[in-house]
Amino acid sequence: MNRPLRLGVNIDHVATVRNARGGPHPDPVRAALLAAEAGADGITAHLREDRRHIIDSDISRLMEQIGLPLNLEIAATEEMLAIALRHRPHAVCIVPERREERTTEGGLDAMGQRDHLRRYVEELGAAGIRVSLFIAPDPEQLDAAISLGAPVVELHTGSYADAEDPAAVKAELDRLEAAAAYAETIGLECHAGHGLRFDNVMPVASIPTVVELNIGHFLIGEAIFTGLDGSIRQMRALMDRARMAESRPV
Ligand code: PXP
Repeated sequence: MNRPLRLGVNIDHVATVRNARGGPHPDPVRAALLAAEAGADGITAHLREDRRHIIDSDISRLMEQIGLPLNLEIAATEEMLAIALRHRPHAVCIVPERREERTTEGGLDAMGQRDHLRRYVEELGAAGIRVSLFIAPDPEQLDAAISLGAPVVELHTGSYADAEDPAAVKAELDRLEAAAAYAETIGLECHAGHGLRFDNVMPVASIPTVVELNIGHFLIGEAIFTGLDGSIRQMRALMDRARMAESRPV
């Protein structure tokens, strides 16, 4: 029996468009409510230090208005820890963050930053928040996550999504599969995300030990053409189809 695969819809880029004009439209909370109707299992939002998309009041409104679990992505800073502890979302995903990057370019160096991260994992966990670490699909990063006491990891699928020639795509997929299998053996719940689209989601969705995908930029961009409901429903259908397939889809 295949394990269910959850879809977390990241609504950051609804806020990106809103912020381009400074007014309230389009509202990421409205997008979150619509995502729930379209089949999302959770909502993900990244509160960045520079507030380039999601802003503090969005987090308050999401916590009040959505019926789905909120996965709040934050950098490991004092400011973000305080915000997370104040709101107590269902989950917090700790991500690396550099001001000058366009998006979250790489995984967290959980191994190199073990001493810094420990207190964040402990305090968030003690507050009843499910903590995940956004890491590259490398065994040493998984080992570091377990040694920090994080119950969940999210594997960064950016290198897979960016790979162009078939051999590189296969190599990245093999890496994700191996990391997801290893996560299970050491007792970590495994999520994945970044750069997933209609054309590349199925092989990742078919990895049996991955139980959640977090997808944002493509869904919001595709919504320009087909509507948010349509883009989420299509992603959901592809994930479900991949999950039911006997072997890795190509
Ligand atoms: N997961 C994490 C931890 C992220 O930081 C992001 C976005 O930066 C995503 C998933 C979603 O990536 P995308 O917007 O490319 O779908």
